[in-house]
Amino acid sequence: MANVDFSNRDSFGSKFGVIAATAGSAVGLGNIWRFPYVAGESGGGAFVLIYLGFIFIIGVPVMLSEFTIGRRAKLNTFGAFKKLAPGKPWFLVGVMGLVAAFLILAFYSTIAGWTLEYIVKAFSNGFENQNTTVVFESFKSSTFRPIFWQITFMGLTAWIVLAGVKDGIEKYTKILMPLLFILIVVMCIRAVTLPGAAKGLEFLFKPDFSKITWNVVLEALGQAAFSLSIGMGALITYGSYIRKDNNLPVTAIQVSIADTLIAILAGVMIFPAVFALGMDPQAGPGLVFQVLPELFMKMPGGYYFSIVFFILLAVAALTSTVSLLEVVVAYFVEELRISRRKATIIGAISISLLGVLCTLSYSELKDFKIFGQTIFDAFDYVTANIFLPVGAFFIVIFLGWFLGKKVIADELSNEGALKMKFFGLFMFIIKYIAPIAIALVFLNSIGIIKF
Ligand code: PFF
Repeated sequence: MANVDFSNRDSFGSKFGVIAATAGSAVGLGNIWRFPYVAGESGGGAFVLIYLGFIFIIGVPVMLSEFTIGRRAKLNTFGAFKKLAPGKPWFLVGVMGLVAAFLILAFYSTIAGWTLEYIVKAFSNGFENQNTTVVFESFKSSTFRPIFWQITFMGLTAWIVLAGVKDGIEKYTKILMPLLFILIVVMCIRAVTLPGAAKGLEFLFKPDFSKITWNVVLEALGQAAFSLSIGMGALITYGSYIRKDNNLPVTAIQVSIADTLIAILAGVMIFPAVFALGMDPQAGPGLVFQVLPELFMKMPGGYYFSIVFFILLAVAALTSTVSLLEVVVAYFVEELRISRRKATIIGAISISLLGVLCTLSYSELKDFKIFGQTIFDAFDYVTANIFLPVGAFFIVIFLGWFLGKKVIADELSNEGALKMKFFGLFMFIIKYIAPIAIALVFLNSIGIIKF
């Protein structure tokens, strides 16, 4: 089944469209919500440094590997492995990616739903004269509102995915991503000019290596993978929509730089404010939702800024949820042969059911624990720190040791049309450096080997 030619498949229309959609997938809650909270819990500067290292030695090569697989096969994640390695068990990497897409979207849509509530709060001046921590706690521990917003968010995601690649995904990301960037820069300026802000910058940039454990290193690897959307086939799927004349290495580098810049800027926006306002950097997943409203109240025009900011945050989340749902939909359509409409509806509903459990982790199910963690925390931890690094490991091994140099060279050079300056280096990284680094971090942090 997998070898059917879908020659009328949709594709991205322009170069900027490819960048916008891929950056749209990469830039999201991972940068603005997850990066600050994980960096805060993992001790700040040293974590950030390791994270940056992983972006460039593992992130960029894995992203490029996913593009290569996707554009070569022109199929969904599962189908791509089946087509490029017929009769071999590599399709299991695709299966793992599908499971990861389900799990990530389930908990991600909880937070995405929170952004919608915060848009409403921003409009109705809901932070004015309030303790933002109390406001946040009372919202997240209520039962129906967070579920309502989560399902609304999944509905929006499904609506864009239904519209297809060019007219849905590409059209919106092209306008909204640049706007988000500008707004974050403005907020950074406000944050760093608060009295007492310097401590926050120090926390973010001054490495204290005594804070480093193997678990922190794994968190940094997981965060790098999560933020770049690698390790589960989202970029294999998007790669399959990239046209043959696109320069894949340049796209991968540009997207990775944009993603990293936005994560760092989010840190610069959050931590000075955290310290200036006397909040706790280890507040966990609620960090951004407690700190930013305080920051807005301290800005001239904060009312308007807060509205625009939470709208853009929701949009950033939306362009990421779209890429997650697209992984599932492309699989349903191409492998199970159902219509795009049906696939989108079935995917969105089944993920929402799982997602509701994650949302309830903050209310009704807060005492229900899997290995000592709530359902939400378990999904968050397991996907970023296990599924994505393991997925990334197999993807580079597949490319480096299985697919063959000639195929990779053809794909990366657009059949010889482009000069490949760093091909040798790329092959060396995907064959040796990336897989060994991932394996070392992984095995050390779960305690199988001890360095
Ligand atoms: N990269 C997204 C973010 O940082 O918010 C999250 C994400 C999207 C992870 C798509 C994985 C994925 F396949």
